[in-house]
Amino acid sequence: MKKIGVFYGSETGTTADVARRIAKELGVADTDVHDVAKLSPTTLGDYDVLVLGSSTWGAGELANAWYDFIAGAQILDLQGKKIAVFGCGDESMSGTFCDAVGEIYDAMKDTGAEMIGRFNGDGYDYSESKAERDGSFVGLVLDEVNHPDLSDARIKAWTDEVKREIA
Ligand SMILES: Cc1cc2nc3c(=O)[nH]c(=O)nc-3n(C[C@H](O)[C@H](O)[C@H](O)COP(=O)(O)O)c2cc1C
Repeated sequence: MKKIGVFYGSETGTTADVARRIAKELGVADTDVHDVAKLSPTTLGDYDVLVLGSSTWGAGELANAWYDFIAGAQILDLQGKKIAVFGCGDESMSGTFCDAVGEIYDAMKDTGAEMIGRFNGDGYDYSESKAERDGSFVGLVLDEVNHPDLSDARIKAWTDEVKREIA
């Protein structure tokens, strides 16, 4: 049985809430859902599958606590692990929609871990996103501001994909 850890950075609680909803779908216990503001990146070593999430702030920036955490995470050898990325944003910030998801993906892709959990959802309305590559997202992107009604189905579709990729 692979051990899954969910790690999030959140400024106003939205991504924290989404992290718990994702954890529930993946069968992950609350004790394995972590706020990156409160722990060391070495905790990543305790898990086989890392589910990493951030909201996007400023003009395409990460939730603040991610900066220190990711600097420590990037220098770890995560060979053999799998990483899936998610995040919350606001489509009205149309030129930087959910950029943090792309930032975390880029920061972690050379750690030796396998990047999983691309997402090919529809119903999005934005002009640019660093999370989008070659026509799909590098992870789950949610807009809890304008489309909270779409999130449950998106979470379900994405966690089903993650489950397939770690089976
Ligand atoms: C000042 C400010 C800047 C923001 N910048 C962006 C942005 O560049 N791109 C985006 O997709 N969302 C942006 N957002 C929207 C947040 O990411 C969104 O409200 C998110 O749900 C917040 O999640 P959190 O409570 O987990 O931090 C911004 C929100 C605020 C208040």
